[in-house]
Amino acid sequence: MKYDFDKEIDRFGSASIKWDETESLFGDKDILPMWVADMDFPAPQPVIEALKKRVEQGIYGYTTRPQSYLEAIIEWMEQRHDWLVEREWICHSPGVVPGLSLIVEAFTEPGDKVIIQPPVYYPFKEVVVRHERDLVYNPLKFENGRYTMDFDDLVQKLDPDVKLLFLCSPHNPVGRVWTKEELTKLGDICIEHGVVVVADEIHFDLILKNQNHVNFASISKEFANNSIVCTAPSKTFNLAGLQTSNIIIPNEKLRAVFTKVVETHFLSHPNTFGIMALESAYRFGAEWLDQCLDYIEGNLEFLTAYMENRIPKIKVIKPEGTYLVWLDCRELGLNSKDLERLMQKEAKVAFDEGYIFGPGGEGFTRINIACPRSILKEGLSRMEAAINRLSVLEGNKK
Ligand SMILES: Cc1ncc(COP(=O)(O)O)c(C=O)c1O
Repeated sequence: MKYDFDKEIDRFGSASIKWDETESLFGDKDILPMWVADMDFPAPQPVIEALKKRVEQGIYGYTTRPQSYLEAIIEWMEQRHDWLVEREWICHSPGVVPGLSLIVEAFTEPGDKVIIQPPVYYPFKEVVVRHERDLVYNPLKFENGRYTMDFDDLVQKLDPDVKLLFLCSPHNPVGRVWTKEELTKLGDICIEHGVVVVADEIHFDLILKNQNHVNFASISKEFANNSIVCTAPSKTFNLAGLQTSNIIIPNEKLRAVFTKVVETHFLSHPNTFGIMALESAYRFGAEWLDQCLDYIEGNLEFLTAYMENRIPKIKVIKPEGTYLVWLDCRELGLNSKDLERLMQKEAKVAFDEGYIFGPGGEGFTRINIACPRSILKEGLSRMEAAINRLSVLEGNKK
């Protein structure tokens, strides 16, 4: 079937964080939300049909993961990611971020260190500091408009207290889809220093043209044994509200440690609708996903041309994956707070400002382009008008 991604759907009043919390978070009811990684597209039709059928049965008691659910995950990983997953490796978590938090609890003690690679998805920092573990930054390098990992810096920061490294693959917000060579180098260093790699691959299905995502654990048996891979259908099919993710742990010993913490918190039972949605999305959602990726690609072309022609001071860091685009606003010459004020108060667009992603994020902003093109256009024209007003003001000052 042909899906219509141009259709605008009014999400106000649907208890949506993106639409209903924007006013309280950003302080203005007319602000256009383009921040949190949540798409303004309905899920694939087979998912909607499966959920309707389940709703109509009318009984929503305690739920277990049926074999067909686990098989759907295994088939998706093999078909889409060339990754052979075994049934017992698949652990349930009510979300990837809760999963990361459980991992910190399971594998570290106070005084231990966890490495993250900023600028990076801000809950990575939060799950470490809220457990009162030590956070170590291994910042990405940004050279000639491209982000890479800084392996020399990483090696210097590894000491026996470092227990985990959080890998964001693909990387939110900079949009890198790491190559097999990069991942191999990272994985070898971590094995050598006894650091377990926690690969957050939640964006792994959102891969743009001519790019290839390599699943970390599929690189070698040694990598599988030294990694925990966080997956979910929530970014891929916009199902985050159904709170269903899978933490895939090939190593039996690591899995036992993780499972113990999950059970301590009584979190093993899934959400009734979450598992239904995952199974139908993984079994019947590929057609929707391919069309969705084409649409996102079109939005990216639109955004890039718009910036080049009308807002040339802002540079688009071309993403290789995800629907989140990292914008380099440093030529505007504003500090982080002034840039935030310009976007929120003048342009009335809600983006995730770069500084919240940690060191290296200052002067950047992140825009979510998984929305109908009409909304994207509106957001960009608001930004253009605000920046033009800023230029006039600056011109007047001179
Ligand atoms: C890298 C990354 N991990 C995790 C999440 C959220 O995962 P969940 O909603 O399953 O907790 C996001 C959402 O934007 C993300 O970008």
